[in-house]
Amino acid sequence: MANSNLTNAKNAKNDEFYTQYQDIEKEINAYLDFNPDVFRGKTILMPCDDPEWSNFTKFFAQNFERLGLKKLISTSYAQESKKFKEGTQISLFEKNAPQFDEVKSVKNGKIFTLTGDKSGDGKIDVNDLEWTYLQGDGDFKSPEIKKLRDEADIIITNPPFSLFRDFLAWIIEASKQFVIIGNMNAITYKEVFPLIKDNKAWLGNGFNAGNAFFATPFAKEYAEGVYNAETGLVKFRNVCWFTNIDHGKRHKALALMSVEENLKYSKHKELKGKDSYDIYDNYNAIEVPFTDAIPSDYDGVMGVPISFLDKYSPEQFEILGITDRENVSGLRTKLYTLENASNYGDLNRRAAIKVDNVLISTYARLLIKHKKS
Ligand SMILES: C[S@@+](CC[C@H](N)C(=O)[O-])C[C@H]1O[C@@H](n2cnc3c(N)ncnc32)[C@H](O)[C@@H]1O
Repeated sequence: MANSNLTNAKNAKNDEFYTQYQDIEKEINAYLDFNPDVFRGKTILMPCDDPEWSNFTKFFAQNFERLGLKKLISTSYAQESKKFKEGTQISLFEKNAPQFDEVKSVKNGKIFTLTGDKSGDGKIDVNDLEWTYLQGDGDFKSPEIKKLRDEADIIITNPPFSLFRDFLAWIIEASKQFVIIGNMNAITYKEVFPLIKDNKAWLGNGFNAGNAFFATPFAKEYAEGVYNAETGLVKFRNVCWFTNIDHGKRHKALALMSVEENLKYSKHKELKGKDSYDIYDNYNAIEVPFTDAIPSDYDGVMGVPISFLDKYSPEQFEILGITDRENVSGLRTKLYTLENASNYGDLNRRAAIKVDNVLISTYARLLIKHKKS
């Protein structure tokens, strides 16, 4: 969540970003299009979601019957445990409830459950949510919430950005299905990449044009271009959905040109008119700087931008490794030292190409190969 003018301290602390209803609807519809019964009979847990704020809870409560859910559980994090305590107030909804407790209201989390029509109005919706205070603060890592995780079939939420690694690990250790929001760069994390490589997690359908808009109590403090005064929302580009539930976009093959066609007709000046694709100096692979420039007829290993993942179909490609962080691929052919390169640290972390006889480091690359039919 960079490129803002929030002070670094505040930026690092702000975990309060609320997801738009239409973004949730669009994403969930992609899974339903692929399998209309994907949520039928399931218990869904939203472990970072106060329905007062969370459109996740609202969406699943409003669509409880249509999706055929068995149970919806939504838990919220105690006011006092939040990194930022400003910006949220006790709602009238809570104050007016018979179970309202002034101390618990700040110290404890809350649990909201939905299983059927409690209001007796003949339909199931947000008005049928029942709530009580949790014993603890609602930390997803607490035994209390772990128990709810174990009860659930699917975990769906936008978790705190600062705890994404821990949150995904918490889901994976319990072998649950999930649909969660995260930063695209999480692909490179050593805890996340192996899941992507082994097709145990993948990107979801995605935000409109890759832009995610969130509400946050501190919206106005973000820079122009991030904060939109008209909508009151902040915009982030690098945000995506991570999931292990199947959807149609994932099975759409990319239409590609051959090596020869790319070098002749590519719209990218980096490729058009060249004799060949660059070959890495330290990996046994070619550099493909744009996803739409992946050649259809190259049999070897190709280094592609991590944003390729948004177009990745496991029937068309296999992922062999990544040139960032840990070299898990075993495809690296060379290690630089101070003797042969002054920027050896940078070069060893990534793939390197020679430009005008000087070695330069590329951005993080996924190492992929066409799948043999
Ligand atoms: C990015 S916000 C998203 C809120 C909501 N899921 C949505 O999408 O609108 C993450 C929320 O998780 C809460 N949170 C932070 N740390 C938490 C923890 N350890 N356990 C549970 N919730 C936490 C934050 O206070 C914040 O409200």
